Amino acid sequence: MGYLYGNIKCVGVLRCWCVEVIRFAKQNTTTRQHNNTTTRQHDNTTNMNINLNGKNALVCGSSQGLGEAIAHELAGLGASVMLTARNEAKLQKVRAALPSPNGQQHQYFVSDFTNSEDLKSKIEALVKKQNIHILINNTGGPASGPVLTANVQDFLQAFHNHVVCNQILVQATVDGMKADRYGRIINIISTSVKQPIPDLGVSNTTRGAVANWAKTMSNELAPYGITVNNLLPGSTKTDRLTYIIEAQATKHGLSAEANKENWLKAIPMQRFAEPEEIAAAVAFLAAPAASYITGVNLPVDGGKTRSL
Ligand SMILES: NC(=O)c1ccc[n+]([C@@H]2O[C@H](COP(=O)([O-])OP(=O)(O)OC[C@H]3O[C@@H](n4cnc5c(N)ncnc54)[C@H](OP(=O)(O)O)[C@@H]3O)[C@@H](O)[C@H]2O)c1
Repeated sequence: MGYLYGNIKCVGVLRCWCVEVIRFAKQNTTTRQHNNTTTRQHDNTTNMNINLNGKNALVCGSSQGLGEAIAHELAGLGASVMLTARNEAKLQKVRAALPSPNGQQHQYFVSDFTNSEDLKSKIEALVKKQNIHILINNTGGPASGPVLTANVQDFLQAFHNHVVCNQILVQATVDGMKADRYGRIINIISTSVKQPIPDLGVSNTTRGAVANWAKTMSNELAPYGITVNNLLPGSTKTDRLTYIIEAQATKHGLSAEANKENWLKAIPMQRFAEPEEIAAAVAFLAAPAASYITGVNLPVDGGKTRSL
């Protein structure tokens, strides 16, 4: 009898122990750290963590267009945003309109990417005061035109503004990302990385260089859990699109409206993107939820790019 009672007691203890082990394993899974960069939060109400509370974002080229829309999206998700571009009055206006769901502060500094020494000293001064966790590399696109007639200065200027300035910004911010174990570098490039666009010779060439720079950088920073990705916007309703369509129309003796119709016909969704549609994809890549995505070129183009 005593032997039987002892066995029953043993089974009971073993059962309790198993229940505890399973409960502990479940807790551990839900709070497991990935690449030391983020804590995934799975519960009954949220499936993916896109919260940017406590993150500092630097959004370049943010006085208008895609940069402005991206700044709005990141701020709405809780990030403290630092804006930069050349036009101070526009930067002030954009900053005043940014949402602050956590009461976070947004700031700006004026920069001109044609002056990389000035940019370097400003970004180095900034990171002495605060770490940047999310870097959005973005600036005005190069002038349009065929590649054959482009001059040397056009190529040098574009390479400088897009590749050299990106390099300066990453070099200045990466130590802070490593220290805070959170880093997202997102480059706004173009679908021309996958399919060159006619009449954008210098741009097509430069975007390819940025994509290769970014892929190389993504491999070097992956061990730190810092991701580097490229967002390839399709035709999006900003001043840049108006400029390209009008320049091409003039060259081909078309009206801007007729040329616009031609562009729309080439897009399976038969419409241009809203800047907010680009910004939403950027915000996802910037979020904790995108911790295992790095080194990719993500087209957001309504299906325009014909390649896989
Ligand atoms: N919109 C599209 O359909 C589309 C498609 C594919 C790729 N892209 C590319 O995506 C990027 C952003 O496009 P977007 O449509 O937003 O263009 P956008 O409306 O012309 O805005 C460009 C932004 O960059 C800033 N900027 C321009 N030159 C600068 C300089 N030298 N130094 C610092 N900031 C400078 C501008 O501000 P300030 O004038 O105040 O400096 C502005 O905030 C561009 O590279 C563009 O080519 C756009």
